This record gives sequence, C-alpha cells and structure tokens, in this order.
Amino acid sequence: MRAWSRIARAAGERVGFVPTMGYLHEGHLSLMREAKRRADLCVVSIYVNPTQFGPKEDFSKYPRDFERDRKLCESVGVDAIFAPTNEEMYPAGAATTWVEETAVSERWEGMSRPGHFRGVCTVVAKLFNCVLPDVACFGQKDAQQCAVLRRMVRDLNFPLEFVVCPTVREPDGLAMSSRNVYLSPTERQEALALKQSLDLARRELAAGRTIDEVSAAMTKLITSKPSARIDYIAFVDSETLLPVNRYEPGRLLVAMAVFVGKTRLIDNMVL
Ligand code: PAJ
Repeated sequence: MRAWSRIARAAGERVGFVPTMGYLHEGHLSLMREAKRRADLCVVSIYVNPTQFGPKEDFSKYPRDFERDRKLCESVGVDAIFAPTNEEMYPAGAATTWVEETAVSERWEGMSRPGHFRGVCTVVAKLFNCVLPDVACFGQKDAQQCAVLRRMVRDLNFPLEFVVCPTVREPDGLAMSSRNVYLSPTERQEALALKQSLDLARRELAAGRTIDEVSAAMTKLITSKPSARIDYIAFVDSETLLPVNRYEPGRLLVAMAVFVGKTRLIDNMVL
C-alpha cells in the first residue's frame, strides 16, 4: 500500500483517503466523491477493526460483504482498496502501543464505549502510516470521532488535510449506517425519532426555549417509542465536546445515542 502511494506522490498526484469498516452505503460514497474532488486519487480502506469494539459489542456480527463493497467503490471511481487482514494489522494478536486522545474522548461515546476511541485512534494512525494520504475524509455522522481524530492529527503532526463531510440520510431522515440492517421494520420506523428530536431541538432553540426545556421535549419524543431507550442526549461545544448550557448558534452540537431494540444508533446536528 505504501509503495503504491509513494509512486503516486512521486508523480505529483495527491492521495485522498476514506477509512471505512465496509458494508458501504451512500454516506461512505459521499466521502469518496469528496476525496476525489480534493485529490487526484482516492484510496478506501475496508477493515472491521477489532480493537474499537467492546467485548459485548457487535464485532463478530458486524455486516461484511467485500464483493458488494468492491463494486460500489468502482462505481464512484475509487483507485485502490486497502483491505488488510487482522494478522496484517495486528501481527502479534493486538497492539501493545496505543494512540489515546484523553480530553475530547472522555465523555459520551467514550463513556458508553470504554476503549472505543483508543481503538479508533490507534487504527486510524496505523492506516495513515500505511496509506500516506494528503487528505482524509470523515463523516459528521460520527461527530465525536471527528473531533477526537482532528485532535490526534493536530497533536501528532500528521501531515494531511482533515476533512469532515455532512451526514447523508435516508429520504425519511434516518442517518445512513451499516448498523441500520439490524433494525426490524417496527424498529426502523421508531428509529425516525432520533432525527425528529433533532429537528425539534432546532425549532425550539430558535424559538427561544432553554436547553433544559429542549432536552426534556426530546426525551419525551424519543421515549414515546416503545423500542427506544436513550443512552445520552448531549448539548456540547462542537470542538471540545464539553457540555454547554447556553445556545450559541454555530457551535452547539446536539448529539445522541439511542438504543432501538438491541441496536445502538447515534445521530447529531450542529445548531
Ligand atoms: P464506518 O462506520 O464504516 O464509517 C466510515 C466513515 O463513514 C466515517 O468517517 C463515518 O463518519 C462515515 N459515515 C458513516 N455514516 C455516514 C453518513 N450517514 N453520512 C456521512 N458519513 C458517514 O467510522 C468508522 O467506520 C471507523 O471508526 C473507522 C474510522 C473506519 C476506524 O475503524
């Protein structure tokens, strides 16, 4: 992989990079198109990274379909797919050197999924060292992941441009996710409460309601769905992920994780 990138770069071409765990959807493809716009070549990695899953999480049942992914990559003009095996990424079974961001990672996803961001930072640092990208594209869908990785890139001086792309949604508003395939038809319907509660937050904050009032209204909307259970709803600064209690347009990130049945979904909006 690195030899391929070095040749491209020596020929004066800019290498764009989109790291993924596969089972690609339109959200992933939008990142690939953006990478193609910003660079000459686009590399996509497909690797379900074991070190970012907790022991009780869905690593073994995470959906995988390489042939389907390969065709989708081809359809948007991806130039190379990097799909390493576990043995190639973690030859000794696991890394004993970790990359850990310790501020932005602390709360929310970091609290609910201990070790998750350590696994994400470690694998993304490794992928950057394999792919040698000039520009790397990530999705706003995973807002905290973006904030954590942006810090990592800054703190460790990775020589690349870090790009965040908008969340791509289904026509009815549900944020696209590889995990949506876990939802039953009823759960799929009730999962619309996430986006609906974010729209409600936008309307109510614009109408002058306080964050506490808005949070209560969102909770009420989500918990009215029998299959939904809130993990967290966070009103935070979009860069530091620290809680805020006043609405400052442009910086306020409303982020949430909600179990719909057994499936944990996340969504967010910058207001
Ligand atoms: P994965 O969940 O496959 O997502 C790969 C990239 O696609 C991430 O940057 C994610 O934010 C983006 N993405 C997912 N759904 C999206 C949507 N609906 N709209 C826009 N972008 C979306 O995130 C990971 O994999 C992993 O943690 C990874 C960074 C690859 C490290 O293992």
